[in-house]
Amino acid sequence: MCSDSFHYRNGTLFCEDADLVSLAEAHGTPAYVYSKNAIARRFEAYKSSFAGLPHRICFAVKANSNLAVLATLARLGAGFDIVSAGELHRVLAAGGDPASVVFSGVGKTAAEIRFALQKGIRSFNCESEYEIETISQIAVSLNRTASIAIRVNPDVNAVTHPYISTGLREHKFGIDIAHAEAVYRRAAKLPGIAPEGVSCHIGSQLLDIGPLLEASEKVLDLAARLRAAGLPIRDLDLGGGLGVAYRPGERAACVQTLAERLRPRLEGLGLTLLLEPGRSIVAEAGILLMRVLLTKRNGQKLFVVVDGAMNDLIRPALYQAHHEILPVREAAANVPAVTADIVGPVCETGDFFARGREIAPVEPGDLLAICMAGAYGFVLSSNYNSRPRACELLVDGAEVLVARKRETLEDLIRGEAF
Ligand code: LLP
Repeated sequence: MCSDSFHYRNGTLFCEDADLVSLAEAHGTPAYVYSKNAIARRFEAYKSSFAGLPHRICFAVKANSNLAVLATLARLGAGFDIVSAGELHRVLAAGGDPASVVFSGVGKTAAEIRFALQKGIRSFNCESEYEIETISQIAVSLNRTASIAIRVNPDVNAVTHPYISTGLREHKFGIDIAHAEAVYRRAAKLPGIAPEGVSCHIGSQLLDIGPLLEASEKVLDLAARLRAAGLPIRDLDLGGGLGVAYRPGERAACVQTLAERLRPRLEGLGLTLLLEPGRSIVAEAGILLMRVLLTKRNGQKLFVVVDGAMNDLIRPALYQAHHEILPVREAAANVPAVTADIVGPVCETGDFFARGREIAPVEPGDLLAICMAGAYGFVLSSNYNSRPRACELLVDGAEVLVARKRETLEDLIRGEAF
């Protein structure tokens, strides 16, 4: 469900102290609405859970890269996990400290590596020998030393949707942990390269921390062997992946439990723990607000057609993801529910937010909120069907910041020629 920051007051859904009916009237729909305090609370939960252990929480920018979100996290002391020059540009524009940035990703371009080195990021999570050699050459040409970690593939089954599981040998990610030591030894001989970390990321939306702990044992073992061989390993990066509860009754993975389990394994080792959480910081802090355009029946089926679509939030279409959908005006308790498909206007059968969902009856003009849309929502949106992208609003108490303007028709054709 949505976080405490989204709640009903006198029958109307609020984000913090801002009511969603007024927000929809003032800013239009579809609109992403984020609670600044929910983001801060989730980040603080990470910080307090790991307090006392040398650590750095590097927010995975891919989950939500809006500048206002990044700036909120930067002010709270977050580092950042990036996967492109574009994400680094955003972090810098939002006031993030480049020295707190780790650069992940299986295919970095030479231009991206150069940019990151010039900006002085903390380290590169490297996924191939070719990448390490490229970083070495560029670092030498810039007269710099690049701190690197090797992202190892620990061959652990993350038990999640196959598209977001990454830690098995058959996946494209990382370097097989069985070959990692040899790669470190070769990397240590390269000019401009300082192998100082071990990293892994086994997947996303993990509801059970077991596989994460299993992976952490494997990378801890590797770090110990590397240190014994004389490499000055200082960072242990366990990636992101903690899952959130999208369905009623589902239990989110608990950061406190993860911290309790990791603490005794890390204490006194002189390693800095890096984590790269994305979803678990921002998912529950956001909703997608949209308006019902019409309802229609085809045969036995009832369709609720809304003004948001798969181009705004692709998770249901791409991962068969479940998102709870709430009416912005609470339905009276005695009104019987209907079963409907909630769909967008895009010309694809895959353009749905929910199928066969029980909801309170709705009419054209009613507002609906898709919950848990703060992560991998707007960032995965597109202009498909030439639909301008939604606006993003950041709520802080009763204050509302237009964190990204709704796109206009002019925005749609900017840069094109004929
Ligand atoms: N670090 C690395 C190297 C990653 O690849 C990812 C996510 C993260 C950190 C952050 O993981 P998180 O804490 O958010 O689980 N679009 C998909 C999720 C893709 C995740 C990709 N990598 C979805 O909507 O479920």
